[in-house]
Amino acid sequence: MSVIVWWLVTAVMVAAHSASAGSAGVVELYWEVENQFRSPDCTEGVVIAINGTFPGPTIYANAGDTVIIHVKNKLSTENVVIHWHGIRQNGTPWSDGAAGVTQCPINPGETFTYKFTVDKPGTHFYHGHYGMQRSAGLYGSLIIDAAKGKREPLRYDGEFNLLLSDWWHESVLSQELGLSAKPMRWIGEAQSILINGRGQFNCSLAAQFSNATAQFSNTSLPMCKFKKGDQCAPQRLHVEPNKTYRIRLASSTGLASLNFAVQGHKLVVVEADGNYITPFTTSDVDIYSGETYSVLLTTDQDPSQNYWISVGVRGRKPKTPPALTVLHYVTAPSSQPPSSPPPETPRWNDFDRSKNFSKKIFSAMGSPPPPRKFRKRLILLNTQNLIEGETKWALNNVSLVVPATPYLGSVKYKLRRGFDRKPPPPNFPMDYDIMNPPRNRNTTKGNGIYVFPFNVTADVILQNANGLDANASEIHPWHLHGHDFWVLGYGEGKFRPGIDEKTYNLKNPPLRNTVPLYPYGWTALRFVTDNPGVWFFHCHIEPHLHMGMGVVFAEGLNRIGKVPDEALGCGLTKQFLMNRNNP
Ligand code: C2O
Ligand code: CU
Repeated sequence: MSVIVWWLVTAVMVAAHSASAGSAGVVELYWEVENQFRSPDCTEGVVIAINGTFPGPTIYANAGDTVIIHVKNKLSTENVVIHWHGIRQNGTPWSDGAAGVTQCPINPGETFTYKFTVDKPGTHFYHGHYGMQRSAGLYGSLIIDAAKGKREPLRYDGEFNLLLSDWWHESVLSQELGLSAKPMRWIGEAQSILINGRGQFNCSLAAQFSNATAQFSNTSLPMCKFKKGDQCAPQRLHVEPNKTYRIRLASSTGLASLNFAVQGHKLVVVEADGNYITPFTTSDVDIYSGETYSVLLTTDQDPSQNYWISVGVRGRKPKTPPALTVLHYVTAPSSQPPSSPPPETPRWNDFDRSKNFSKKIFSAMGSPPPPRKFRKRLILLNTQNLIEGETKWALNNVSLVVPATPYLGSVKYKLRRGFDRKPPPPNFPMDYDIMNPPRNRNTTKGNGIYVFPFNVTADVILQNANGLDANASEIHPWHLHGHDFWVLGYGEGKFRPGIDEKTYNLKNPPLRNTVPLYPYGWTALRFVTDNPGVWFFHCHIEPHLHMGMGVVFAEGLNRIGKVPDEALGCGLTKQFLMNRNNP
């Protein structure tokens, strides 16, 4: 039956395609960004909603389409921007939505129009990129399907889309203030994990398995009872037996590294960050903030049962209970709970297990390999430091403070005072001891950038180290705007130039936009500087970025097209445009 429907749909799509001679479409959206009372985890708080929905509306487009989004800021006291995470913005760097990097933030009452093309199918998301607005709930899914009339090289009968996030009861304003306090007040672990903006804080879906939640909450939680329309009621996944489903996963968490598992079912991972990979089978998927995956799940289990879907915390000592929902076989009684406890999240600090997962990811067969040699290389030491009592994160001893004038405007109009002309160091002293807290705990704030020549192969080695406290080094998921990069390898301890390159995978490294840096180790990545613009590269943990954990790359500066004036109505560019337009 459903096979027939599938064929019909395909036939219609093909017909439409030939009629329109392959013309690409336009997806145009009008959005209003507004605060809203909401109970994402059954406790009321304030979220940033889009057109009254939280998470924001899912964007669907086909590869080749142009996406136009008019974003009106209806927050009363805060600026806003939206970043299209995973979209490379080829030729449209001003639509990347990174405040202070590619545009001025949108003032309350004002509208900014993003316009970009999406060139290939993939699972992505979008989110706020001003202050810590992502943690305030400003996010949604962005799904790119195959070009009209084309099909993806994947076979499945249905699909689900799960956007994962974490949620705090403390307001983001209060979190931001605490992070820059002296001494710093850390935000702590999230109260809840959310699946499509829904979680449960004061009750459990699995209360009948008493110890399923007790370890996270001291007491065991009562069974959840939902009224119709409850904002925290989980969305169950309704499936038919003996079918294959694509589950799209994206993590927009502020802090948590997550693990996704479906009781009794194997998962075949087929896509990572919008790129096909060599499929591999796994019982569970580690997903870091900023990453996306597609997994295929075949409903081959007892069709008279329902099964847990569990999303738990890894990488940090978990104090947050896993988010739960149910894989509901339509052949099983709808209200019947799964018969055994939810899958247990792997031990949080089993980093070898985490690394093993990362090392299973290879590009799909036939993907072009990376260039064999690099032209430019940066080695970025990740440290936690102090600046006059403030706790900061730094790269090669510089903690990033994004300037008031967006870099894109400063480089386009050659405004010398827009940011520090001196680039930050490309390396760190080779005698630095990464295994112990920094001997010189102090660091400096800066806003210099790394400018690459156009169209060269660039390598970045991320080097982890011990934080301010002894025996503490944490995972940092690094995300690059404007590019996908090849993940050439991971290693332990300090990177050894001239030696460790020999371990690189140059045959089939995956193309990604986000990659984890493991405790006390290094991660090597490579990309080609072929996208004129200014691109943020930063740790995707929201408080870490807020505390300076980022750098800025730029390339092809004399090839940047016309930047819309609306992107530059602040700082030095505002003055510049006024003088230019009214000489
Ligand atoms: Cu999803 Cu600059 O981030
Ligand atoms: Cu980090």
